[in-house]
Amino acid sequence: MYKEIKVNNLSEMEQIAKTVGKHVFKGFVLCLQGDLGAGKTTFTKFLGKSIGIADTINSPTFTILKIYENTLDLFHIDAYRLRGIGADYSLEDYIYGEGLCVIEWYKHIIESIPNDKLVIEIKHLGDTKRLLKIWGDNQYEKIVEAINN
Ligand SMILES: Nc1ncnc2c1ncn2[C@@H]1O[C@H](COP(=O)(O)OP(=O)(O)OP(=O)(O)O)[C@@H](O)[C@H]1O
Ligand SMILES: [Mg+2]
Repeated sequence: MYKEIKVNNLSEMEQIAKTVGKHVFKGFVLCLQGDLGAGKTTFTKFLGKSIGIADTINSPTFTILKIYENTLDLFHIDAYRLRGIGADYSLEDYIYGEGLCVIEWYKHIIESIPNDKLVIEIKHLGDTKRLLKIWGDNQYEKIVEAINN
């Protein structure tokens, strides 16, 4: 299933993250794509908050992976610097792990990305406006359905 949603501001973005947060499960994979500054980390922060993570979620650009222990652990990956390295088997422990795995710049490690996933592509429309292209099949389909504005 595929859907496009226009977001006008941060609070609408937070609402969408909350909807996703209501549907997360063990082994959930969320792939985020979009230009620098589109809002991938911001979305991850809102999602983390919605599932009860009190720690501040920062961009993991210089660490590649950050782990937030929680009822459902959050594995936050930023693959920006991993372009062209091929499959990253060390990250696969997390991508195919027991937590919620959020991957910024997932196309940079596409060989390691499962078929089943929720994908959100964020396009900058200006100021606080964003266009979200959202898709997912199988167990992710009902989440795409649930996301509305
Ligand atoms: N509707 C919105 N959704 C998300 N972020 C927004 C929105 N409106 C404004 N912003 C701002 O845009 C910036 C997005 O930065 P963020 O670090 O989340 O981008 P990113 O996609 O993770 O970039 P990078 O590729 O560098 O990791 C933040 O300063 C955020 O406050
Ligand atoms: Mg980021």
